[in-house]
Amino acid sequence: MRGSRSGREDSEFSGKTVLVTGASRGIGREIALDLYGRGASVIAHCNKEMGALRDAFPDADRARVHFIAGDLSTDSGVKNVAGAADKITGMLSGLVNNAGVYSGLSLEEETVENWDRVININLRSPLFLTKLLRKNLEAAGGSVVNISSVMGVAPSAGAYAYQASKSALIHITKALSIDLAPRVRVNCVAPGFTMTDMNRGGWKDDSFRAEVERSTPMGRWGKPEDISGIVCFLLSDRASFITGQSVGADGGKNLV
Ligand SMILES: NC(=O)c1ccc[n+]([C@@H]2O[C@H](COP(=O)([O-])OP(=O)(O)OC[C@H]3O[C@@H](n4cnc5c(N)ncnc54)[C@H](OP(=O)(O)O)[C@@H]3O)[C@@H](O)[C@H]2O)c1
Repeated sequence: MRGSRSGREDSEFSGKTVLVTGASRGIGREIALDLYGRGASVIAHCNKEMGALRDAFPDADRARVHFIAGDLSTDSGVKNVAGAADKITGMLSGLVNNAGVYSGLSLEEETVENWDRVININLRSPLFLTKLLRKNLEAAGGSVVNISSVMGVAPSAGAYAYQASKSALIHITKALSIDLAPRVRVNCVAPGFTMTDMNRGGWKDDSFRAEVERSTPMGRWGKPEDISGIVCFLLSDRASFITGQSVGADGGKNLV
């Protein structure tokens, strides 16, 4: 198992339990591994890819990693995930609402079914997981980090459901931060284009990959570890006076 980003086993999160949704791959997987490396107990969630989720933690201390599954597009799935986390601990130091789906449909292609699916996974489930786990978070003086997107900050044509979900997630982060203070902090991280399965088609396409590099001030795509560092910081006691904020982790993409 890897340690923290500094390469050493860390105890920053020792004694703390954090639920990370969508931890089977991509950004969520890196966040879960980073937290584990920093001493946290991790409740790692996936939708269907339980094999991949378990494979991410091959030699982990089983007392510090719990695997749960559930479809966050449905009300029952959200309740099951919250119930499973509640069974593991009544004291939740962190909730990372990371699970998400991308949809790039044009206005002509958009459908009510697609809109509802994307909004339910990306926006409804973070709100209701927070609601259902509020007491657990309050018991621990916990912290919530919602994963938005640069596409929720800077608009572009198409991808209406995705952009709406990510933009609204930034706004409800602010509303929740007022509601849940002072016991629970709520912040948001908005990644830029990051090399994961979600946009494999994009970074495998030479011209699209180059266009993202050209239009990103830092001149490159993000990596999952570019996102996990800021998420861990916001979850940690080092961020104890920070709430209601959205931090772009996008190489400056939201500025241009
Ligand atoms: N990659 C980017 O460029 C980028 C940029 C900005 C923001 N983001 C955001 O960052 C987050 C993670 O993205 P990623 O790129 O790491 O995505 P990814 O590699 O596609 O992984 C998505 C994760 O979400 C889970 N998931 C998908 N549908 C679900 C459902 N119905 N119920 C529960 N879980 C579900 C998946 O579980 P299974 O493996 O079990 O299916 C998987 O663990 C998302 O919120 C995304 O919008 C990504």
